[in-house]
Amino acid sequence: MKQVKIGLVGLGFMGSTHWGVYQGMKNAKVVALADVDAKKRKGDISAVVGNIGGGDNSKPLDLTGVTVYDDAFDMITDPDIDVVDICVPTPEHCDLVCAALAVGKHVFCEKPLCGTPAELKKIVAAVRKSKKFFNVGLCVRAWPEYRHAYEYFKSGKAGKMRSATFKRISPSVDGNAWKNWFMDGAQSGGALLDLHVHDVDEVNYFFGKPKSVTAFGAADIVSKNGGVDHVVATYDYGDGSLVMAEGGWAAAKGTPFEMSFTIVCEKATLKLDASGYHIYPVKGKPITPKVDVKAGPTGWHQELAYFVNCVAKGVQPDKYQTIDSVEDSMKMVFAEMKSIKTRKAVAI
Ligand SMILES: NC(=O)c1ccc[n+]([C@@H]2O[C@H](COP(=O)([O-])OP(=O)(O)OC[C@H]3O[C@@H](n4cnc5c(N)ncnc54)[C@H](O)[C@@H]3O)[C@@H](O)[C@H]2O)c1
Repeated sequence: MKQVKIGLVGLGFMGSTHWGVYQGMKNAKVVALADVDAKKRKGDISAVVGNIGGGDNSKPLDLTGVTVYDDAFDMITDPDIDVVDICVPTPEHCDLVCAALAVGKHVFCEKPLCGTPAELKKIVAAVRKSKKFFNVGLCVRAWPEYRHAYEYFKSGKAGKMRSATFKRISPSVDGNAWKNWFMDGAQSGGALLDLHVHDVDEVNYFFGKPKSVTAFGAADIVSKNGGVDHVVATYDYGDGSLVMAEGGWAAAKGTPFEMSFTIVCEKATLKLDASGYHIYPVKGKPITPKVDVKAGPTGWHQELAYFVNCVAKGVQPDKYQTIDSVEDSMKMVFAEMKSIKTRKAVAI
């Protein structure tokens, strides 16, 4: 079995989560790590905090056999690496993605892909030009319950969608990250770009690109520099349906993390909430589906296992995403930002 060699950039919440996922995979091995923080370069993740998941961070990671770099641009030229996995703050994504593809590496980049339309254009061009594989950590596409609902809906069993609501509400992430970068709207794009992107992406994934979006947001509740900390958006498909997504990360610390959806279709309602994932057919009894957790319990496990398998087999990854669909989702997010400022619907 080919072992895919990973070069990990950033060992914060997401980097250490990916590290943990790779440890459980037989066909992947982290062979290199780059981080600007000296403690992380020693495997010390004791300061790492996330909004969901997370394990025991008190013990340092064993970096035996891992080549450690302080500059990611040096790491990406390491001939030992097949895949560059980018888990650093969003403003660093564009240059790293483009450089890693240019030196002939496969690239997995955390969401959100980037922070501006100009960066999006640059990345999309680089991905289209490259013969290497590229995926973004839009992990909700691969999250077992969302995945099941997606496949059920796409099979036609639920019938036509009439209304849908996707929601993601997090306890405050203030103080969680490297240099508290999430709380600087200029770097993270606030909850709108960083958290709500998952549900914007689900709306696009399930129903395709809408005709327009209208969004309202509350900025600088916990952020500074205009970070939208809570957003509500509606998506106009011009077919009488009502599609909405809501996201925020200003809830008091200790508030349980909520990720939920209610998709009302002609023949069934699909619902995920704190009580679990259920399908309520119009005719027949409620169903509690068995979801596919073979690759692991989270979308992080599923998406990375899939990408690594594709690299190992030399097969273009297309199950969860294409660069076209990721581009559309990012355009929807940028349209929401514009809509909040103009208080008008923005065409996609
Ligand atoms: N898919 C998800 O569910 C999910 C969840 C959380 C975060 N994320 C995304 O993952 C990315 C990282 O977020 P995080 O929560 O891990 O942040 P974090 O602050 O916990 O970690 C960032 C790490 O990157 C390092 N770093 C910063 N600049 C660097 C550089 N130029 N080169 C090398 N290392 C550098 C820091 O030292 C730190 O170790 C972001 O894009 C974020 O939006 C995704």
